[in-house]
Amino acid sequence: MKIISVVGARPQFIKLAALSKELRKKHREIILHTGQHYDKELSEVFFSDLSIPRPDYNLDIGSAEHGKQTGRMLEAIEKILLSEKPKLVIVYGDTNSTLAGALAAAKQNVPVAHVEAGLRSYKKSMPEEINRVLTDHISSFLFCPTPTSVKNLKKERITKGVHLVGDVMYDSLRDHIEVAENKSKIIKKLSLQKKDYYLVTIHRAENTDIKENLQKVIQIIANLDKKVVFPIHPRTRKKLAGFSLWNRLLSLSNLILIDPVSYLDMLVLEKNARCILTDSGGVQKEAYFLETPCLTLREETEWVETITSGWNCITGLKLEKIKQNISKNFHPLRSNRELLRNAGASQAICRILIKTVKA
Ligand code: UD1
Ligand code: UDP
Repeated sequence: MKIISVVGARPQFIKLAALSKELRKKHREIILHTGQHYDKELSEVFFSDLSIPRPDYNLDIGSAEHGKQTGRMLEAIEKILLSEKPKLVIVYGDTNSTLAGALAAAKQNVPVAHVEAGLRSYKKSMPEEINRVLTDHISSFLFCPTPTSVKNLKKERITKGVHLVGDVMYDSLRDHIEVAENKSKIIKKLSLQKKDYYLVTIHRAENTDIKENLQKVIQIIANLDKKVVFPIHPRTRKKLAGFSLWNRLLSLSNLILIDPVSYLDMLVLEKNARCILTDSGGVQKEAYFLETPCLTLREETEWVETITSGWNCITGLKLEKIKQNISKNFHPLRSNRELLRNAGASQAICRILIKTVKA
């Protein structure tokens, strides 16, 4: 069966890595990179680190406003679908590349498989929420990572084609953690002691696009009682500079500000951090898989199971809440097994596709 995987942004390469390996055992997979992320450290490094085959197509769409970026992708993806005539298009997560891939395919009557279906923040102001909801409603296969995501779809009357398969990001982590621990030199390079530093990532529009919120992020880092490793997303860097906050961030004495790191370095940083503070979806989950306490710098999360098990806590940008959670001794309520019950998501997806899609 000829399948096109549409990807474009950092977390999608990580999701693709695990599934692509399985898909290629039985199918012909074409990788279509939209070019939404284009910096070497946000794109190319993942293809080499995770041994993902080079994309068959790179649309080089780059950055732009939402409509412009999504529209350009839609037009370019449609052209490729018309010439390649795939039996299935797979899209991942909730970025503009996800929506463009799903919409282009659905309009050509090509079935869409959505990996990481059913996630909801119930916050329509989030661009990712719009992308997920629309993608789910035009998908034929909805591959859900968590029990909550299945329930969310049911609330929207989506029950056909829904499969609880587990998390492909766990597959990637499981496949790479050992090599990461053997190969990565990041702990030594940054002169860190294990469990004696915090790891921070920030890139959500709600945190980066409002000056006061970026000021709060700086204040939070300044108040942390250990070194803080901050691999900074280009969006956040640009916004800090635009709000004239860059020098203030640089002046923090406990800060280790670095460029975005490779996946292998990131896994090692996550595993050895005392605590992770993040607004990333993927990083919240990896913290849970690696049993590192996590504080989510948002007002809600789609990864409800990480909260109910006690491994993650929603603090938003509230300094006092963050300080309280950091100072109390960390006791998870339950093991991190809940989300791992369905380990082997990539294989499960391939089994379902083989059974259901006619070649
Ligand atoms: C996108 C996704 C978000 C995902 C994140 C993963 C959407 C709407 N957002 O957010 O869901 O969590 O990727 O990291 O799809 N830039 C660069 N170099 C790059 C890419 C971007 O400098 O290689 C800068 C540009 O100034 C750009 C900005 O980052 O305008 C934002 O990039 P964009 O892809 O629009 O959104 P992200 O914030 O990366
Ligand atoms: N990641 C990485 N290097 C970094 C920051 C993140 O490899 O410097 C990885 C991280 O381990 C996770 C994914 O990128 O697998 C999360 O992507 P991101 O936070 O950009 O997006 P989100 O998951 O929020 O959509």
